[in-house]
Amino acid sequence: MSEQTCEPSPTPVESDLLDPYERLVKIEVLGQRVEVPENNRLLRCFQYLSLETISYGDFCWNGDCTNCQVWYHTKDQPNDNGKPALSCRIDVIEEMVITAMSPFIKLRGITK
Ligand code: FES
Repeated sequence: MSEQTCEPSPTPVESDLLDPYERLVKIEVLGQRVEVPENNRLLRCFQYLSLETISYGDFCWNGDCTNCQVWYHTKDQPNDNGKPALSCRIDVIEEMVITAMSPFIKLRGITK
C-alpha cells in the first residue's frame, strides 16, 4: 500500500515584484472596484492591475518625483476626500477609496 501525502493548497500567484500576500483586498479607484494584493505598497498594487503602464511609467519608486500621488479616504473617514499620499510610500488599505490621482498613473481599464 502506498503512502498518501497531503499537498498544500494552492497559493496566490507569486511575483518577484510583490511582497508576500495571502489574499486580495477590495479597494475603489476612481469609482471602480478592484482587488489587489494585501501587504503591498499602493503603487505595486497599481502595477498588479496594469503591469505595462506602471512598469514603463515615469516613477522613481522612492518618494522623490511625486508622480505617483493619489488622494484618498478610508471607510473610517468617508468625508475626507482630499487626503494626499504618495502611492510608492503607503501600503494599500482595505476598502480605501482613491478619488483622484496624478495623470502619470495610467491604469488599463480605469484611466485608459
Ligand atoms: S514614484 Fe516617485 S514619489 Fe512615488
